[in-house]
Amino acid sequence: MASPGTPVFTALVPVLFVMGLVALQGAASGAGGGVDTLTVDRPLSGIQRPLVSKNGKFKLGFFQPVDNTRSWYVGIWYNKISGQVPVWVANRDSPVSSPESSHLTISTDGNMVLLDDSRSSVWSTNMTNITSDTVGIILNTGNLVLVDASNTSSILWQSFNHFGNTWLPGGKLGRGKLNGGSTRLVSWKTFSDPAPGLFSMVLDPNGTSQFFLMWNNTQRYATSGNWTGHTFSSMPEMAPTNGYPNSMYTFDYVDGANGSYCVYDVKGDVLTTRFVMDATGRINVLTWIEGAKQWMLPWSAPKAQCDVYSLCGSFSACTENALASTCSCLRGFSEQYEGQWLRGDHTQGCRRNVALQGSNNGSRSDKFYMMVNVKLPSNMQNIAMAGSTQKCELACLRSHDCTAYSFNGSCSHWYGGIINLAQDLSSAVDPKGSSIQIRLAASEFSDTKYSKELAMIIITIATTSVALIILASVFLVRKRFKVVAPVKGALIAFTYRDVQTLTKNFSSKLGGGAFGSVFKGSLSEGTLVAVKKLEGFRQGEKQFRAEVSTLGTVRHVNLIRLLGFCSERTRRLLVYEYMPNASLDQYLFGSFQQQVLSWSTRYQIALGVARGLHYLHERCRDCIIHCDIKPENILLNDAFMPKVADFGLAKLMGHDFSRVLTTVRGTVGYLAPEWIAGTAITTKADVYSYGMMLFEIVSGRRNVRHRQDSTVDFFPLLAAMKLTEGELEGLVDTRLGCDVDLAEVERAFRVACWCIQDQEGDRPAMAMVVQVLEGLVEVNVPPVPRSLKLLTDQSSFVEFSSE
Ligand SMILES: *[C@@H]1O[C@H](CO)[C@@H](O)[C@H](O)[C@H]1NC(C)=O
Ligand SMILES: *[C@@H]1O[C@H](CO)[C@@H](O)[C@H](O)[C@H]1NC(C)=O
Ligand SMILES: *[C@@H]1O[C@H](CO)[C@@H](O)[C@H](O)[C@H]1NC(C)=O
Ligand SMILES: *[C@@H]1O[C@H](CO)[C@@H](O)[C@H](O)[C@H]1NC(C)=O
Ligand SMILES: *[C@@H]1O[C@H](CO)[C@@H](O)[C@H](O)[C@H]1NC(C)=O
Ligand SMILES: *[C@@H]1O[C@H](CO)[C@@H](O)[C@H](O)[C@H]1NC(C)=O
Ligand SMILES: *[C@@H]1O[C@H](CO)[C@@H](O)[C@H](O)[C@H]1NC(C)=O
Ligand SMILES: *[C@@H]1O[C@H](CO)[C@@H](O)[C@H](O)[C@H]1NC(C)=O
Ligand SMILES: *[C@@H]1O[C@H](CO)[C@@H](O)[C@H](O)[C@H]1NC(C)=O
Repeated sequence: MASPGTPVFTALVPVLFVMGLVALQGAASGAGGGVDTLTVDRPLSGIQRPLVSKNGKFKLGFFQPVDNTRSWYVGIWYNKISGQVPVWVANRDSPVSSPESSHLTISTDGNMVLLDDSRSSVWSTNMTNITSDTVGIILNTGNLVLVDASNTSSILWQSFNHFGNTWLPGGKLGRGKLNGGSTRLVSWKTFSDPAPGLFSMVLDPNGTSQFFLMWNNTQRYATSGNWTGHTFSSMPEMAPTNGYPNSMYTFDYVDGANGSYCVYDVKGDVLTTRFVMDATGRINVLTWIEGAKQWMLPWSAPKAQCDVYSLCGSFSACTENALASTCSCLRGFSEQYEGQWLRGDHTQGCRRNVALQGSNNGSRSDKFYMMVNVKLPSNMQNIAMAGSTQKCELACLRSHDCTAYSFNGSCSHWYGGIINLAQDLSSAVDPKGSSIQIRLAASEFSDTKYSKELAMIIITIATTSVALIILASVFLVRKRFKVVAPVKGALIAFTYRDVQTLTKNFSSKLGGGAFGSVFKGSLSEGTLVAVKKLEGFRQGEKQFRAEVSTLGTVRHVNLIRLLGFCSERTRRLLVYEYMPNASLDQYLFGSFQQQVLSWSTRYQIALGVARGLHYLHERCRDCIIHCDIKPENILLNDAFMPKVADFGLAKLMGHDFSRVLTTVRGTVGYLAPEWIAGTAITTKADVYSYGMMLFEIVSGRRNVRHRQDSTVDFFPLLAAMKLTEGELEGLVDTRLGCDVDLAEVERAFRVACWCIQDQEGDRPAMAMVVQVLEGLVEVNVPPVPRSLKLLTDQSSFVEFSSE
C-alpha cells in the first residue's frame, strides 16, 4: 500500500491541475430539455429517445456496452460525454435482445419494471406496499427514483440505494443499521458485460469504519483503514479533502443512528467525477477532462494491479509493468476460455495441456519447471519434515494434489490451483527473488519427441515414392507462400494458425507490454520476430486494417518496424521486428542495472530517439503522436541503437488507450500538463515526455522519488534549478564515474529542460532537439518551469489557478 506521501504526486497534483485549469475554462453548464419522467402513459422503449435529467447531465435509456452487440440494457449514462459511459444498469444480468419491443414502464402495482418482447418482467424495483400512483424520474444527480405521483419528494425507491459498479457524487455508500441493508459497488464481469463480477467494495459489515475490496464476497484484498475524522488511514487519497481549493470537493464519513456511510460531493458543474469498481478489481476515481475528451485517473487502489486477488485465475501469472499488467498462462498451461481471455476476463485462469502422470510411472513420472523471481502465492502449506530440495520435491510428487513446491531452507507445497502468482520482469516485486517449482507431466519437457516424429515422417516419405516427395514439397512450398504472402504496403497478413506456428503456440513470452503480451517467434526463413497479442481491443476490422497499413509504411532506423498483423474474429495481433537487448528502463533502473550504459551510448540513445520522434512527427504521411514516450518504450538492438516501440498504438487502440494510460503507475511523471489541463494534444506532448526521459537517461534514476518523510524528490526541478546556477555537480549518474562529456551533459540538460516547459510554444520541436544534440545549434539556459515548482509546493496552487 502507498506511503502517506504518495498522493502528493500521483493523486493530488493532477487533480489540482485539473481543478484549476478546468475551472479557468469555465465549462458552461448546459440547459436541460427533453423529458425526465416515466409514467404509466409514457413508457420508454428502446427505439424512443432516452429520458434526460432536468440539468441535461444524465440520460436514462437503452444502451449496448462496447464490444457487445447482441445485448441491450436499460441504464444511465452521461448525456454530454462521448463514449456512453454507463453509471448504472438496471438489468445487469438479464439483457434484452430486442430494444424495439422492450419497455421500461410502471406496472399496475406501482413498480417500475422492464418488460421484454414477450411482456414478461426481466427487472423490477420490487417494492411491496406501493398503493398510490407512481412515476419514475431521472434526477440531476443521476439518481433514478420511483416517487409518489402526487408528491414527488416522497421517494419510494432509488437507484442510489442499488449501486452497480459506480458511485456518483451525492450517493451514500455504506450500511444501514435499521434495515440491515448496505450499498456496495460490484464490478462488471468484463468491460463489455455488466453482469455482477467477482470484485466488490463494501463498508465493513462488522461495524468498523473501513472499506474493504473483496473477491467473491469472501476474500479481502485491500482495506482503506479506519476513518480518522477527515480521511482513511491506509488510503488517504480516497478522501483528499485537504489541498482542494475552496472545498470544491467534499468527502465525509457519517456514523449515524440509522446507518454508516460515506458521501462525497463536487461543487458546481465543472467537474464530472465518479468512483468505479472496475472489472479488473481496482477501485478507480475518474474525472472527465472536457478539453482532452478523456477520463483522467487521479487515484486507484490497490496500487499494483497484481495485488488484486485471483485476477489472473489459476495457473496463470500476473506481470506488473510500467504501463499495464498482464496475465499469462504458466508454461504447460493454456487459456481456459480463449474468447474470454481476449476480452480481458482472465478470472477463469488456465488449464493443463497434459494431465499429470503421477510419481511412480517410470520415465513418464512428473517433473518440475522452475520459475524464478516471482512473488509466491500465499496459500501454501509448510512441510516441516522435508529438509532438502530433493525431499521437498519427493514429498510433493507423492501427493496426488500437490501442484508446486518451493524450497528456501523450509519446504512449502501448494495444492490445487495456483493463484496470485506474480512475476516481475524488473524484479521490483520481490527483491529477494523467490522461486517456485511447478509440476508438469514429463512429456512437457521432452523436446526430442517432435523431432523424432518428424524424422519418422521423413524416413517414411523417402522410402515410399518420389511422387510423394514431390507432392509433399509442393505442399510445403504452398504453405510457405501462404505464411509470407505480402499484402499492401509490404505488410504480411498472417492467419491465426500462422502466428501459432511461428510463435510455437505462444510458448516463449518476452514480456507483458502495453495492451497485451509479447511473444517471441520466428518466420519461416528464420527471422526473429516479436508478436504482440492485443487485449481489450475495441475497433472494428476495417478500421484496424486501415490503421495498421498506415503503421506499415513507417520506416526509420530508430523506429521499431511493423512486419505484419493478424486480424481474425476478435483476435488482433501485430508482428514486429525482434530486439534482443530489452528496453532502456531495464538498464537505467531495472534488472540490467549492473550493465552500465556508457556516456556515449546514452548520448546516442538520446539522439536516436529524438530522430525517431522527429520522423514520426514530421516525416510520416500522417503525423503520428506517440503519446507514451518513456524508457519502457525504447527498445535496444544488438548494437544498443534505440528503437521507439508502440507508436501508433494510442490511436489504434482508440478510447481504450485512455484507460491504460491513466491507470498507470508512474506514467503521470511523463505526461505533459496539457493532458491534465484538457487542451488539445499536439506533438509537443511527446516533446515533454522526451524531456522527462532525457533527465532519466543522464541521471540514471527515476525522476520521481518518495522520501522517507513523505515528501517528493523530483529530479527535473533540482536539475532545472542547478542549471540556472550553472552547476552540474551531482546530477549525472554516479555509475558513469569519469566517463562523461560535460559539454554534452550540459547540452542534454538544457534541451531536457526546454522540452518540459509549461507552454507548448516554449518547447522545441523534435527537429530542433536533434540539431541541438548534434551540436549544430546552441541553446540558452532555460527558465525553471512553473509547474515543477508547484509539484513540490502545493500552497502556491491557488495563486496558479487564478492566473
Ligand atoms: C425481486 O424479487 C424477487 C423475489 O423476491 C427476486 O427473485 C428478484 O431477484 C428481485 N429482483 C430485483 C431486481 O431485486
Ligand atoms: C406492508 O404493509 C403492511 C401493512 O401496512 C406492513 O405490516 C408491512 O410491514 C409492510 N411491508 C413492507 C415490506 O414494508
Ligand atoms: C411529500 O413527501 C415528503 C416526504 O415523504 C413529506 O415530507 C411531505 O410532507 C409530503 N408533502 C405532501 C404535500 O404530502
Ligand atoms: C465479520 O466478523 C466475523 C466474525 O468475527 C468474521 O468471520 C467475518 O469474516 C467478518 N467479516 C468481514 C467482512 O470481515
Ligand atoms: C464464489 O463463492 C461461491 C460461494 O461461496 C462459490 O460457489 C463459487 O465457486 C466461488 N467462485 C469462484 C470463482 O471461486
Ligand atoms: C479499525 O478499527 C478496528 C476496531 O475499531 C480494528 O479492529 C482494526 O484493526 C482497525 N483497522 C485498521 C486498518 O487499523
Ligand atoms: C433515523 O430513522 C428514524 C425513523 O426512520 C427517523 O425518525 C430519524 O430521524 C432518523 N435519524 C437520522 C439521524 O437520520
Ligand atoms: C502412467 O502413464 C501412462 C501413460 O501416460 C498413463 O496412462 C497411466 O495412467 C500412468 N499411471 C499412473 C499410475 O499414473
Ligand atoms: C522461506 O519462505 C517462507 C515462505 O515464503 C518464508 O516464510 C521464510 O521466511 C523463508 N525463509 C528464508 C530463509 O528465506
